[in-house]
Amino acid sequence: MNVPFLDLRAQHAPLRDEILGLWAEILDSAGFVGGPHVAGLEAEFAAACDANHCLAVSNGTEALVVALQGLDVRHGDEVILPANTFFATAEAVWLVGARPRLVDCLPGTWNIDPEAAAAAVNDRTVGIIGVHLYGQPFDADSIAAVAARHNLWWMEDSAQGHLATYKGRKTGSLGKVAGFSFYPGKNLGATGEGGAVTTQDAALARKMKLFRDHGSEIKYHHEIMGTNARLSSVLAAALRVKLRHLPAWTEARRSHAASYQARLRDVPGLRLPEVPAFANPAWHLYVVHVDDREAVAKALGEAGIGTGYHYPVALHLQPAMAYLGHKAGEFPVSEDNAAHCLSLPMFAELTEAQIEHVCANLRRVVAG
Ligand SMILES: Cc1ncc(COP(=O)(O)O)c(C=O)c1O
Repeated sequence: MNVPFLDLRAQHAPLRDEILGLWAEILDSAGFVGGPHVAGLEAEFAAACDANHCLAVSNGTEALVVALQGLDVRHGDEVILPANTFFATAEAVWLVGARPRLVDCLPGTWNIDPEAAAAAVNDRTVGIIGVHLYGQPFDADSIAAVAARHNLWWMEDSAQGHLATYKGRKTGSLGKVAGFSFYPGKNLGATGEGGAVTTQDAALARKMKLFRDHGSEIKYHHEIMGTNARLSSVLAAALRVKLRHLPAWTEARRSHAASYQARLRDVPGLRLPEVPAFANPAWHLYVVHVDDREAVAKALGEAGIGTGYHYPVALHLQPAMAYLGHKAGEFPVSEDNAAHCLSLPMFAELTEAQIEHVCANLRRVVAG
């Protein structure tokens, strides 16, 4: 049996005709920028996140940049974020001229440690970015409390968090602003690159909208400096089709995660993801931790099972981040994750038989 890590073709096959029909309409109308599909996606995604405002943007990195620009983050500012995340969280902070201030994560959820965030605040700190890593919501109330104590904003990097809930509330509705990625492999993936920001704040939404569109609301009148971070209507149309299926796909992921948790619970040497009572994850990734994961990944590969490492190098040890002056050993939990994480196949169309094949082989390889 073959179990790919991710199977996007299986996701798209039943949607193919509908998406191609919309693309033909767009081609015939030549309405490639803006228009009803972008506006429709924004309204529908805002509703899906219980957010008042959504702006579609060109990718998830740009979503974070647009959010940071909207919050007036500037050169000399520091923004706290976890060392255990995809590189783009820190890159966005660098792109607006600010300094990423890395902190460690908590074992088990591998999400930002609120106490570490509190300890990292200094007089240059302007805000905190929590990341709903692997689709697992971070402890938003604890981060909000740290932010409130120090008069900071806090935002969500929800690139992996679509439709996850924290204490029953949707990610994207929690912080001052949230950034989403619609990279093809994400829970809501575009047929290309895409992203979005969500917020409850009308003034911030307007500012981000200006920034996304050359600082302009009226053609050729530029109120502020901005950029072109728009999403194309061809991508928006396909995303609207896929968004209708996202609740069902998310439930399927939750069911697969429950199946993994139950089947792998008693495998010695395997650490499973911990889900706090506040969280209903979206399971973008199902990540276990195991010694000698290269050997395990190789053996699973030989059994036809795709795996991944998310992520094999913590941010503070990335060559590009050397300018921050960190050392190995500084963020031990993030380093533990980087050394031992192993992502198992996770996508809505997985079958029980495939999950059983993964679990049986993992048990065989890890437990002997
Ligand atoms: C946590 C996180 N932040 C930001 C991004 C950036 O999104 P994109 O790849 O759409 O630019 C990603 C996606 O890879 C991500 O996983």
